[in-house]
Amino acid sequence: MTGTWELVGGDVTIVDDLVLRPARPWTATVHALLAHLCAEGLDCVPEPVGIRDGVEALTWVPGDAGPEAWRHHVDLDGLRSAAALLRRIHDATEGFVPPEGADWAFPPVPGATVVTHGDPGPWNFVWREGVAVALIDWDYASPAPAMDDVAYALETFAPFRPDEEAMESHGFVSPPDRAERARAFSEAYGLGGTAGLVDRVAGRQEVTVDRIAALAERGLEPWAAWVRAGYLDELRGRVRWTRGHRQLLE
Ligand SMILES: Nc1ncnc2c1ncn2[C@@H]1O[C@H](COP(=O)(O)OP(=O)(O)O)[C@@H](O)[C@H]1O
Ligand SMILES: [Mg+2]
Repeated sequence: MTGTWELVGGDVTIVDDLVLRPARPWTATVHALLAHLCAEGLDCVPEPVGIRDGVEALTWVPGDAGPEAWRHHVDLDGLRSAAALLRRIHDATEGFVPPEGADWAFPPVPGATVVTHGDPGPWNFVWREGVAVALIDWDYASPAPAMDDVAYALETFAPFRPDEEAMESHGFVSPPDRAERARAFSEAYGLGGTAGLVDRVAGRQEVTVDRIAALAERGLEPWAAWVRAGYLDELRGRVRWTRGHRQLLE
């Protein structure tokens, strides 16, 4: 595609087989990571096409994502496919050498050997025939312990949310068996068990509060608007819910 890359309404825009998204300060670093993953032979991440006029272009991956994703994650085999895909991607990030002057949305955790995706909820997987086939939306990537991503994913895959919310918004027809789902996710990811996971999930939820606050403090949108609208209080409420319902998992 030639000419100017234009976002319709400032948002993610799909033109032919390209996805156009607003470029961020860290987009060049994320493109270097995605190029590394593609060179490693992964076909489960979008290919970086370029950055121009404040817009990034990536290849479009066919399948269900966003709101269409929830119905696929309910099934245990769907959940397992997402966990296995996350593991495959984490393993492939290990040899990545960030470019000089690399910028990430969040400071790298010292000693981290993996680059985490940072937002691996069901909505950022692309699903085909009930199977998670790709992981998109890499804005929150940063070097950090892989378990941070596992904990983040479990928050919504288990989910650590009230039954009503799980049934109204996450596609469940009855209250989810969180212990069974956490076990299945952990096994498919390759963990030895689920011990300590509740605290990991709550700890990762706290990290989300700090991260959104930090992006807002930098004056970046949409995060500043989220904070103005009181989103941090909602996030803190989620941490309390997780800590108050540990018996659902333990
Ligand atoms: N590479 C891609 N392939 C297919 N669909 C995509 C891709 N990137 C984005 N999308 C679609 O656009 C939606 C929003 O894009 P996303 O990158 O997740 O941004 P955000 O969640 O920050 O709005 C996704 O839920 C998905 O439906
Ligand atoms: Mg997204």
